[in-house]
Amino acid sequence: MNILVTGGAGFIGANFVYLELKEHPEDRIVCVDKLTYAGNLETLKKAMQCDNFRFVKADICDRKAMFDLFAEENFDIVVNFAAESHVDRSIENPEIFLQTNILGTQVLMDASKEYGVKRYHQVSTDEVYGDLPLNRPDLFFTETTPLKTSSPYSSSKAGADLLVNAYHRTYGLPTTISRCSNNYGPYQFPEKLIPLMIANALAEKPLPVYGEGVNVRDWLYVEDHCKAIDLIIRNGKVGEVYNIGGHNEMKNIDIVKIICKALGKSEDLIVHVTDRKGHDMRYAIDPAKIHAELGWLPETRFADGIQKTIKWYLDNKEWWERIVSGEYQNYYDNMYGDRIKDVEK
Ligand code: NAD
Ligand code: TYD
Repeated sequence: MNILVTGGAGFIGANFVYLELKEHPEDRIVCVDKLTYAGNLETLKKAMQCDNFRFVKADICDRKAMFDLFAEENFDIVVNFAAESHVDRSIENPEIFLQTNILGTQVLMDASKEYGVKRYHQVSTDEVYGDLPLNRPDLFFTETTPLKTSSPYSSSKAGADLLVNAYHRTYGLPTTISRCSNNYGPYQFPEKLIPLMIANALAEKPLPVYGEGVNVRDWLYVEDHCKAIDLIIRNGKVGEVYNIGGHNEMKNIDIVKIICKALGKSEDLIVHVTDRKGHDMRYAIDPAKIHAELGWLPETRFADGIQKTIKWYLDNKEWWERIVSGEYQNYYDNMYGDRIKDVEK
């Protein structure tokens, strides 16, 4: 099979590329990535050595580039990871989120329709369901929970999901959607909670926890997410949505403390800074459907996954140290400068 993976130079896409190359050496993988600040060709260095892997630098919003590529490659399956993915950036500048996440999805589905792709898979997020209250631990997101978004990021992902459903119903495009909880693991860009705290703790820089740090996320090791997507594209039912999550809810502050302990750093580095605007309180996935229909279960326990992740960042400093200089430093100063000053007042 010939599989298009968009956004494969990013965190989850790259992990998916490596899983596919390992588990399905008979398939061919073509990766399209625009190489935004979040995409890194260094991440795909090993994949580049495989004969059944091709990298194409292109924007999924570029209709001509996508149609030309689809005509040339005759893809069987399309897996769309490409997105602007950081909530804080979406609060600063929503526009690029609407362009890439919604219009880019439309271009890919138009090309999939035109060239008879057998499966279009949209990688979505649990954030499309909005949030759950902290005082109702009995509530979980199911596939039928109404979409009720909070941030420009989650709204753009929900917009894309609705469009995917429309392309399935109106044009009969064979689609599936997966909605996963927060991922962690190798190759995550250091703007996200876990790698940011690891990088800052190693440099003995302040660890900026938004608000009280009591917000809850449902963490899943990235490889488990990739295995779930692999099952869905091969065995999942067309037209369906699958939630992916491992019942691993953690408060932000507890994660930061685990990282301090693992790295032998003082919790005194923790600084409570100005909260994120519209900050979602709790995400929690009910993964019963994917378990019942496809037999998926998470394999990595958080206690093991977080240690593996910390070790990866220690062993691969050159990968992220290059990223945390340059453009990222400007982003960091803009995003965190005032937040930290606010609490010092
Ligand atoms: P990421 O930001 O690490 O990577 C995104 C990749 O997409 C980058 O390589 C970037 O260069 C590429 N890209 C961005 N705009 C593009 C465009 N216009 N054309 C082509 N490529 C473009 O993101 P991630 O964390 O790997 O997330 C991947 C997908 O999974 C996203 O769709 C995200 O919404 C979803 N998701 C992420 C999480 C999470 O915890 N990170 C959880 C659930 C779902
Ligand atoms: P993040 O990794 O940005 O993922 P998402 O917002 O998509 O869940 O953030 C995870 C949680 O950590 C979220 O509640 C916000 C919080 N957070 C901080 O407290 N400090 C930080 O510096 C960052 C990046 C996030």
